[in-house]
Amino acid sequence: MLVWLRDTTNGFAAWFNRVTPKGLYPRSLLIIVTPMVILQSVLAFVFMERHYNVVTRRLSAAVSQDISAVVSLYDLLPKTNDHIALRTFASRNLSLNVAVLPPTDLPPPGPKPFFSVLDAALSREIGLRLKQPFWLDTVGRSMLIEVRVKMDDAVLRIFAPRNAAYASNSHIFLLWMVGTSLVLLAVAILFLRNQIRPIENLADAAEAFGKGRDVENFRPRGAREVRRAAIAFLEMKRRIERQIEQRTTMLAGVSHDMRTILTRFKLELAFLPEGESEALKKDVDELQGMLEAYLAFARGDPGEQAALTDMGELIEDLRLNAERDGAAATASFMGPPLVEVKADQLKRCIGNLVNNAVRHARRIAISGTRDARYLIVTVDDDGPGIPEEKREEVFRPFLRLDDARNQDAGGSGLGLSIARDIARAHGGDIQLSDSPMGGLRATVRIPV
Ligand SMILES: Nc1ncnc2c1ncn2[C@@H]1O[C@H](COP(=O)(O)OP(=O)(O)OP(=O)(O)O)[C@@H](O)[C@H]1O
Ligand SMILES: [Mg+2]
Repeated sequence: MLVWLRDTTNGFAAWFNRVTPKGLYPRSLLIIVTPMVILQSVLAFVFMERHYNVVTRRLSAAVSQDISAVVSLYDLLPKTNDHIALRTFASRNLSLNVAVLPPTDLPPPGPKPFFSVLDAALSREIGLRLKQPFWLDTVGRSMLIEVRVKMDDAVLRIFAPRNAAYASNSHIFLLWMVGTSLVLLAVAILFLRNQIRPIENLADAAEAFGKGRDVENFRPRGAREVRRAAIAFLEMKRRIERQIEQRTTMLAGVSHDMRTILTRFKLELAFLPEGESEALKKDVDELQGMLEAYLAFARGDPGEQAALTDMGELIEDLRLNAERDGAAATASFMGPPLVEVKADQLKRCIGNLVNNAVRHARRIAISGTRDARYLIVTVDDDGPGIPEEKREEVFRPFLRLDDARNQDAGGSGLGLSIARDIARAHGGDIQLSDSPMGGLRATVRIPV
């Protein structure tokens, strides 16, 4: 039972989430519009039901009393040819236009007008007061109501002014209601737009920062809470930037100091007798190579600005480089090629992947696609690939699998770390998987 209840509630919540709009703007509008519509519907209903019906019934009762007075008078007054007394009395005192017609059958009852309170109320009231059969038409003429009463020796045709019988101006109330709510809606739209724009700006700024782009002229604006969030975002951004900067300078400093010591080390080694120090020299050289690479890595982001870049060209460039290095490479790109990225960095990122492929394989395929949300570049090769359990590991700085495979051809083991660093600075990431070509597939995915 409880489980069923929970499932139903969850289902309802999911459905509700699905059908309601996602944006803050339409949601806030909905929050304003829904109660307004409900309120007005209830008001309109109550008004129609109570006021309109009651007033119409009362007015109908008055008109039907007048009509029954005319009918009684017709019986009481002496029957002259033109019934002048009756007609004068009716038109002067009751605003009724009376004609006495020869006795014929009443016309068949007309179709009941849909939705007319007047018709129902009037025929009920007249039926209460008259014994004679009567016929009623409330829609035939716009300003008048026609009633025919069958007397023993004649038919009385009575025209009553239409607006005497029902509350004719009640639609004005509805008009006012709809009109004012439209004004309210317009005001709400204007105000809400101004309230929501700062939130959108904040979201844009956070998104741009996440993608490593410049956050241009963003200032905290709007309501207090939004402004607080914006200030917190700016603070966070500043802290992150400072931290990156600190890390970079520190790493650069450490590497630099160590390089100085290494150079001294090498000098001292040079004075040792030939032969004894060969292995040591090789180690020192390797260490120095690693340090150089590390320095380059730590120098990392030279503050390049994101700019519109033709990805098709960039990929083609990388393909040419690969060919020059002796690999058989193909390149393709699908979708709108202009993407806002840090071109040099991204080139380095994909270039590292291509270099790896060149080093380990003979055939390479670089392909890029770009849709509304992502720029995706895959680099496939037909080399030995990387076993699945190592695919996270290889992203670690200085980690190389080649040592066993080919000792000297290897680099420093920083290529993938740098590539991933760059992809992440663009808000994206790199995945490794099996390539249909038999080797490794590296996929760079960056939000655009
Ligand atoms: N396409 C590939 N096929 C097979 N193994 C690969 C491939 N790409 C990378 N690897 C393995 O992952 C390891 C790490 O690669 P990474 O690019 O980080 O360093 P590296 O290529 O050795 O050195 P660097 O790129 O700094 O010159 C490599 O040593 C290699 O063993
Ligand atoms: Mg590499």
